[in-house]
Amino acid sequence: MVRVAVVGASGYTGAESVEILLGHPQAELTYLTGRRDCGPLSDLFARFKGRVSMDVEPLDLSRLADRADVALCCLPHKTSMTCVPQLLAAGCKVVDLSADYRLRDAAVYEQTYGLKHADPANLAKAIYGLPELYRDQIRQADLVANPGCFPTAAILAAAPLLKQRRVRTGTLIVNAVTGISGAGKKPTAAFHFPNMNENLFAYGVGNHRHTPEIEQIVSDVAGEKVGVLFQPHAGPFDRGIFSTLYMEPQGEVTSEQLFELFESFYRDEPFVQICRTSPHLKDVTKTNYCQLFPTVTKGKVVVFAALDNMVKGAAGQAIQNMNILFGLDETLGLL
Ligand SMILES: NC(=O)c1ccc[n+]([C@@H]2O[C@H](COP(=O)([O-])OP(=O)(O)OC[C@H]3O[C@@H](n4cnc5c(N)ncnc54)[C@H](OP(=O)(O)O)[C@@H]3O)[C@@H](O)[C@H]2O)c1
Repeated sequence: MVRVAVVGASGYTGAESVEILLGHPQAELTYLTGRRDCGPLSDLFARFKGRVSMDVEPLDLSRLADRADVALCCLPHKTSMTCVPQLLAAGCKVVDLSADYRLRDAAVYEQTYGLKHADPANLAKAIYGLPELYRDQIRQADLVANPGCFPTAAILAAAPLLKQRRVRTGTLIVNAVTGISGAGKKPTAAFHFPNMNENLFAYGVGNHRHTPEIEQIVSDVAGEKVGVLFQPHAGPFDRGIFSTLYMEPQGEVTSEQLFELFESFYRDEPFVQICRTSPHLKDVTKTNYCQLFPTVTKGKVVVFAALDNMVKGAAGQAIQNMNILFGLDETLGLL
């Protein structure tokens, strides 16, 4: 059994991690932590009544080493990097769901998040936790930087095309919509129900913090610098990300060829599914699947991608990474 601490279990992705781990045959929840919201988990989230009798406790790092083999760190960025070094020092492997260890270059982190990285030593060792691209490195890691929800969809949608040089590396356009849970449990004015209900708007125009993350990984895949124009929108639904990518083809390509390319690229991947028509959010929410539909429209390559921001975009992918870290079947708890 892998003993799992969920740090930030009082938040959305923390609670989602607990939900998935309850159905995991090789994982045992041993420590749930919160900051302001502590006490019985089932008092914080009534859906756990009769299913979880554990309390959410204030984080005490001195007690962690005895209790956990791995910590799923579900804290906000900027906070996470003050906590992860101590989780690692306590002897735990860490899957960090925040953005703090995703950007390899500390200068890019500072530019993007507006403060100096507090833990450059571990930043240098962190592995980007997208199993479809970095599975071998994840196996050897102590610290996995779980990808962002938008980046997961965009990178999975672009990777086969960039790897096989079927599109130009100029500017990749990513137009995406997320549900409200992507912003976490604390409502802001924009994401509060009276504003969000029956509404749709763009945000982070020109400078969303996920842009450098997507650029870093698609450039890795392409073997050269790829520019990304990423535009997120918020829509009035609880969960899910729907992204549409637009790219210039490299030479002639048909929709059928793209379908075959994606099928072959992801043949052995348990959580990527290739469709012949647009994916629907309703088919992927509460699952760890990302569905992709590549096609050609008016001579451009267009790829539609859908996933659940809290599962393949966060907690599910974190548990997929945990399974890889401990040599377990990667799909345990997730199918
Ligand atoms: N939501 C998503 O769809 C999603 C997807 C991918 C990645 N992520 C990332 O995952 C992380 C968690 O997101 P979330 O949506 O679960 O956020 P959330 O619902 O706001 O939960 C945040 C958690 O962190 C704790 N916390 C907040 N500030 C803290 C501080 N200063 N010190 C210690 N603990 C603190 C909170 O504790 P209390 O509530 O008890 O105070 C809560 O347990 C973030 O980095 C986010 O960017 C989220």
